[in-house]
Amino acid sequence: MNKLQPKTVAESKTEQVQIVLNADINGYGRLFGGKLMQWIDIIAGVVAMRHSNCNVTTAFIDKLQFKAPAHANDVVVLVGKVTYVGTTSMEIRVDTFVEGLDGHKRAINHAYVVMVALDENDKPTPVPPLLLQTEQERAEWEAGQRRCDLRKQRRVDFF
Ligand SMILES: CC(C)(COP(=O)(O)OP(=O)(O)OC[C@H]1O[C@@H](n2cnc3c(N)ncnc32)[C@H](O)[C@@H]1OP(=O)(O)O)[C@@H](O)C(=O)NCCC(=O)NCCS
Repeated sequence: MNKLQPKTVAESKTEQVQIVLNADINGYGRLFGGKLMQWIDIIAGVVAMRHSNCNVTTAFIDKLQFKAPAHANDVVVLVGKVTYVGTTSMEIRVDTFVEGLDGHKRAINHAYVVMVALDENDKPTPVPPLLLQTEQERAEWEAGQRRCDLRKQRRVDFF
């Protein structure tokens, strides 16, 4: 197997479903933000592992926007996909929804997570290029490239 053979977005796209349990809610009946962040980190890690076929580590949580709450017993659906890859890093977008009994999905969170692939010595290692197949994937890539440049600039500026 050629480890650096290009891969499509669809090849690593991942969906994860959770039910909000009593242990996941805060004192006023809403899903803990930290619990949702854990689920987001896990799905982003799985997407990155599937794209790179490597162990990965979380380098940066770029955008984490809580748009609406989830409550006890809600069905929470997380969808993760690669939006941009650098040399050893991958940007993963995670969209989180609450799914109603009628199947309608209401968006509650959008996040971008940067994962870095690690070799057997725990050092960053190259990841496969991303094969873009749709207009939406191309638009996400261009936006991901801009976010990557901004992240680099912020690291230089210590901001
Ligand atoms: C992430 C980590 C592996 C990067 O290692 P490093 O020695 O700085 O490696 P490099 O400078 O070669 O960077 C490797 C890649 O990570 C990216 N990167 C590093 N720090 C980053 C940051 N803060 N934000 C976004 N990307 C970052 C680089 O841009 C580079 O990407 P590229 O190869 O696609 O251009 C290292 O900082 C680390 O292990 N951090 C701890 C991660 C961790 O434990 N996470 C779980 C927290 S509980």
